[in-house]
Amino acid sequence: MQFNKIKEQLKRSPQTWLVTGAAGFIGSHLLEFLLSHGQRVVGLDNFSTGKQANLDDVRALLTPEQWARFTFIEGDIRELVDCQKACAGVDYVLHQAALGSVPRSIDDPLTSNASNVTGFLNMLVAARDCGVRRFVYAASSSTYGDHPGLPKVEDVIGRPLSPYAVTKYVNELYAEVFARCYGFASIGLRYFNVFGSRQDPDGAYAAVIPKWTAALLQGETVFINGTGETSRDFCYVKNAVQANILAALTDNPEALNQVYNVAVNARTNLVELFDLLRDGLAARHPQLAEAKPVHRDFRPGDVLHSQADIGKARRLLGYAPTHTIKEGLNEALGWYETHLVLGRGPWAVGRGQKMP
Ligand SMILES: NC(=O)c1ccc[n+]([C@@H]2O[C@H](COP(=O)([O-])OP(=O)(O)OC[C@H]3O[C@@H](n4cnc5c(N)ncnc54)[C@H](O)[C@@H]3O)[C@@H](O)[C@H]2O)c1
Repeated sequence: MQFNKIKEQLKRSPQTWLVTGAAGFIGSHLLEFLLSHGQRVVGLDNFSTGKQANLDDVRALLTPEQWARFTFIEGDIRELVDCQKACAGVDYVLHQAALGSVPRSIDDPLTSNASNVTGFLNMLVAARDCGVRRFVYAASSSTYGDHPGLPKVEDVIGRPLSPYAVTKYVNELYAEVFARCYGFASIGLRYFNVFGSRQDPDGAYAAVIPKWTAALLQGETVFINGTGETSRDFCYVKNAVQANILAALTDNPEALNQVYNVAVNARTNLVELFDLLRDGLAARHPQLAEAKPVHRDFRPGDVLHSQADIGKARRLLGYAPTHTIKEGLNEALGWYETHLVLGRGPWAVGRGQKMP
């Protein structure tokens, strides 16, 4: 079904959605979309990497009536009881809660495993027992591991390169087995380097776009790990939101119990990315026009190139990305400029910490 038709359908018949990881980057965008389309939303988050300020940022974009349809549960997916509480009475689950970052998982595989594998299994069990209609979950392009083929097609994967990649592949295996053993339907979305507003620029495990944007705006050095030929299929968060909604509401039986690449089918290397960010910011911050990156060692666990074939999502889900990297950056950079440089708004107040 077309995304525009789905948006109209949503407004006509509100449903109840659970967004796990709602205080995180992608979860907060799902929350914003669903509430702004008249849905009831339960959010579950333990604020391990998410922020109260992300929820406040969403609230500021909505009417009080829209926000009143949101129920937040501070809880942990490592606890089955929290998952059961969150799934009660829910129609659709969009499961985003997990510990992201390849280097974090290399530093501390146990903690990543607890949230990403045990937490995932808890969510599957709770959602199955509560009889939710559809379970959509965040998988990852890291599952392609060391397979050199480009663009990546869903059924050709390599060996995992990090504990994080293992956890995300295990999610897919559990989802498949739940379909086989219990007839429980799910859809996995292999995100490829999603970016947009509210993505955390802070800390050792920050993703490249918010990290470099913040560094440029704050006059700090931008480091490129390796020569800069490393390339990615950067996916604006609105494309990822669209994929989630289409997956949850698809009425195509062939689309169920599958995993899908979610990206744009484009490839941008790190040198090109740096140029896009610098030029995008220099339009309003002319002092950045001459900024140059510094190269350092390649990071272990990273794959060299990544690009998605999005034919399967197009065919079975009707996915049609609306934003290229450039169009996404146009929207996202304005948000970072406002929130990081001018320090306005709730997100800046709560930056890096949980607000009371
Ligand atoms: N951002 C990307 O490019 C990308 C790429 C591939 C996959 N993913 C996956 O997408 C999902 C969302 O990622 P994101 O970029 O929004 O990250 P994020 O860190 O901003 O959001 C994750 C959220 O989950 C919450 N969380 C973590 N562990 C939890 C637990 N045990 N109990 C309850 N809540 C918990 C965090 O507090 C946070 O709010 C994750 O599953 C991630 O692995 C993201």
